[in-house]
Amino acid sequence: MANTILVGAQWGDEGKGKIIDVLTENVEVVVRSQGGNNAGHTVYVGPKKYVLHLVPSGILRSKKKCVIGNGVVLDPVSLVGELDGLEKLGISVKGKLFISETAHIVLPYHRELDALRETGKGKKKIGTTKRGIGPTYGDKAARVGIRMHELIDTERFAAKLKIRLKENNLILKAHGVKPLSYKKVLADYVKAAARLKPFVTNTVVMLHQEMSRGSNMLFEGAQGTFLDIDHGTYPYVTSSNTTSGGACTGSGVAPNRIDSVVGVMKAYTTRVGEGPMPTQNDEISDLLHGMGREFGATTGRARRCGWFDAVLTRYAAIVNGIDELAVTNVDGLDTLDVIKVCIGYRYGKQRFDYVPSDVEVLSKVEPIYAEFPGWKTSTEKAKTWKDLPKNARDYLKAIAELTGAKLKIVSVGPAREQTMIL
Ligand code: GDP
Ligand code: IMO
Ligand code: MG
Repeated sequence: MANTILVGAQWGDEGKGKIIDVLTENVEVVVRSQGGNNAGHTVYVGPKKYVLHLVPSGILRSKKKCVIGNGVVLDPVSLVGELDGLEKLGISVKGKLFISETAHIVLPYHRELDALRETGKGKKKIGTTKRGIGPTYGDKAARVGIRMHELIDTERFAAKLKIRLKENNLILKAHGVKPLSYKKVLADYVKAAARLKPFVTNTVVMLHQEMSRGSNMLFEGAQGTFLDIDHGTYPYVTSSNTTSGGACTGSGVAPNRIDSVVGVMKAYTTRVGEGPMPTQNDEISDLLHGMGREFGATTGRARRCGWFDAVLTRYAAIVNGIDELAVTNVDGLDTLDVIKVCIGYRYGKQRFDYVPSDVEVLSKVEPIYAEFPGWKTSTEKAKTWKDLPKNARDYLKAIAELTGAKLKIVSVGPAREQTMIL
């Protein structure tokens, strides 16, 4: 399957983890290139449920190499916890995990600042995961971040941490928050560093060696297109480039080495956190939450749910260069009589066929809907395209056409087997 970038085409949680796990069968290497443990990727292997935050979802298959690239922001203590959790579930990471020496690390003051900024914003808060993601990328851009190669060099880390803590404790004190103990942070991070050190390497060189050996690579996007720092609903976004370009800068693999881009989208829309969502709808939210679905994999928050928004996905197709689509959670619509799809936005006398850049505008648009008849049959057992009810096929064909990319994968349940590759 050559080198493929997989991205979320909506606001995250599209089912990327599940699709990555399915596609990993045909690749040798899986790479995370942005985001951090704000991500939560759910994969079921038989009855076992795994939620991955920093480790690429490819880890669940044996003999696959998994890379945490330079563009990721990595919380070392949290990663150690994730590795311990995986080992408890019988998943070994030895010889399979590679961590970039230039990935920036999340420190406790980043998490504190994330929370403080959110509180300070009051009603205008972003609704972050409070994992310190924004402040860590902020320090990276301000050139005061600490990277993995420094973390695993205890003397160097100790010296740099002292300087960084001095500045950040002043900020915390100004906010009335207890300053962090240098001794405690140092001890916690040195302990985590010792555990992670064997995995740390120059992943750019490693990935290029894999490529020259003919290995196929899958780039596992985190978050989704409309959480992208440049192309998303700013400021209600995350702090990395979640779109396909981010996979190149975040891994050191050049654009001309990429063969295709897969966009993952739900058959409806969800969003967790604040910010505009034109097709949000109580009926569909209640329906999905009533089924015990659509609760965040990282924070447990109820996701906001709404109709499929083709204006969004069409924009995502352009920005990412999506070649092929994976549509998940088709089964979530099984019981509906009528299914709506947003095909444009009305804003006063203006009509938008693309996503307006200004969130003030996006928060006021009225969706223009097309209606599709529901199929009112369970799709969960469908194994092939032909097993799907005709109305479901027509709906899927329509949303792919409106998005402007080829429909390639359809998912009708969380399990590996509930996936059809067309
Ligand atoms: P990710 O962040 O994009 O990997 O997605 P999450 O794991 O956060 O959320 C997707 C949720 O949908 C998870 O609970 C998956 O197990 C589940 N899921 C994925 N595809 C399907 C599907 O086709 N049907 C159903 N019922 N659940 C699905
Ligand atoms: P995966 O990879 C859904 C959202 C947060 C918040 C905004 C900023 O599982 O799809 P941050 O903590 O990144 O500063 O929060 O982004 N967010 C996600 N929403 N899925 C995710 O990841 C997300 N990661 C961040 O809810 O609105
Ligand atoms: Mg998720």
